[in-house]
Amino acid sequence: MVAVAILAAGRGTRMKSDLPKVLHRLGGRSLVEWILTNVQDIHPIRQLVIVGYRSNLVTDALTNLQDLDQALPQLEFVEQPEQLGTGHAVQQLIPYLQGFDGDLLVLNGDVPLLRPQTLKQMLQVHQERQNAATILAAQMPDPSGLGRVFCDQENILQEIVEDRDCTPTQKQNCRINAGIYCFRWADLARVLPKLTTNNDQQEYYITDAVNYLQPVTVVDVEDYQEVLGINDRKQLADAYTVLQTRIKDDWMRKGVTLVDPNSITIDDTVELEPDVVIEPQTHLRGKTRICSGSQIGPGSLIENSQIGRQVTVFYSVVTDSAIAEGTRVGPYAHLRGHTETGSACRIGNFVELKNTKLGDRTNVAHLSYLGDTTAGSQVNVGAGTITANYDGVKKHPTVIGDRSKTGSNSVLVAPITIGEDVNIAAGSTITEDVPNDCLVIARSRQIVKPGWRLKANGGR
Ligand code: UD1
Ligand code: CA
Repeated sequence: MVAVAILAAGRGTRMKSDLPKVLHRLGGRSLVEWILTNVQDIHPIRQLVIVGYRSNLVTDALTNLQDLDQALPQLEFVEQPEQLGTGHAVQQLIPYLQGFDGDLLVLNGDVPLLRPQTLKQMLQVHQERQNAATILAAQMPDPSGLGRVFCDQENILQEIVEDRDCTPTQKQNCRINAGIYCFRWADLARVLPKLTTNNDQQEYYITDAVNYLQPVTVVDVEDYQEVLGINDRKQLADAYTVLQTRIKDDWMRKGVTLVDPNSITIDDTVELEPDVVIEPQTHLRGKTRICSGSQIGPGSLIENSQIGRQVTVFYSVVTDSAIAEGTRVGPYAHLRGHTETGSACRIGNFVELKNTKLGDRTNVAHLSYLGDTTAGSQVNVGAGTITANYDGVKKHPTVIGDRSKTGSNSVLVAPITIGEDVNIAAGSTITEDVPNDCLVIARSRQIVKPGWRLKANGGR
């Protein structure tokens, strides 16, 4: 029986930000969302989040979170009104966990890269040895600022000493406290009231609680990058690099080609099929899925979008949209606002599609804006066609029937319905519905005045 508590009350002074540190984003998730994601696999029976600095921002952000496992228990928010240290944060749990008879996993809210597998291993050691506490440690190339862990030969903890309380000799130790702890709650609850502020920062330290307990086993993490803490913007950027390397290596192993991985970024929420090719300077974000055989980039941004098989997108931006099999997009196209294309469409240069649905084999090849439009299949939208969908107050729909063709530079003033098999003459401004199967011309006739010439001094 494991409950989880996340320490998320601190301001994060070194971030130099109004936003609580745990709400800063690392790829597709905030830091605290990462922690919650990482603990899902251990199926906690309770999830407590200790909030303090601008707590309403943190609770709102987490309450709005949809993608966590619905089967897991509701988050419980525990207020730490003043932030007097990590030990003080954990003391706030006492009234919430009265009579709780299991283990409590405590995680710093600023250590987001921990692998779920590592947490499982730590829990296993904790439970097998029936420890009072088990903590994670790592050999850090640069341990400055971090608590140092001292053990005996059997990895039994002797002491954790904070960096600023270390002697020069103690500072030489590169084995650091990761800020991830597993406690038998009954034992922790017993020592929590004993904490003092007798240290350089004059704060209550959770590490002192660990020091009071026995026995405490130290589990070393092989890959120190898993326990990188984020205290400032530089560390946030370093963590992003680590995360990106992990995500991209993983997709390459699964059969995705990344041409120049260093210039590509991929959120961990993205899904790719084998034989997808991602070209340089391309960014895949949010809930994006790309099917086999598609080639994205160079120079594209795809966000929260579904891309079918054999699609090509280059130098284009696609957000909140869906592109069906075999469609070609770009260069310089922008699909947004729940646009859906059919299969084998062609969306070309300088085309913007907003909340627009296209049937199969429909082309919008040059210089167009279609907003709130439903076009059928095999429609040809001529160069420069614009839907005037906004009357200054409301947006209105445009419908274009199958196989219709709009001439270059036509304006379709919405709300409007164009039938099937319609031809619209170039330069037309269409303001009334058009029936099926016709040619429509809506422009003034050309006038030619033979022999007309401008005289040099004052008219003809
Ligand atoms: C802490 C550890 C240190 C460890 C390091 C690992 C202590 C005393 N030190 O130091 O041994 O090496 O993490 O990254 O614990 N928080 C609260 N309430 C508070 C203070 C902090 O909820 O009153 C939260 C913060 O939001 C943060 C976490 O606790 O998520 C850690 O706090 P931070 O100040 O970053 O601790 P470190 O100095 O990094
Ligand atoms: Ca920290």
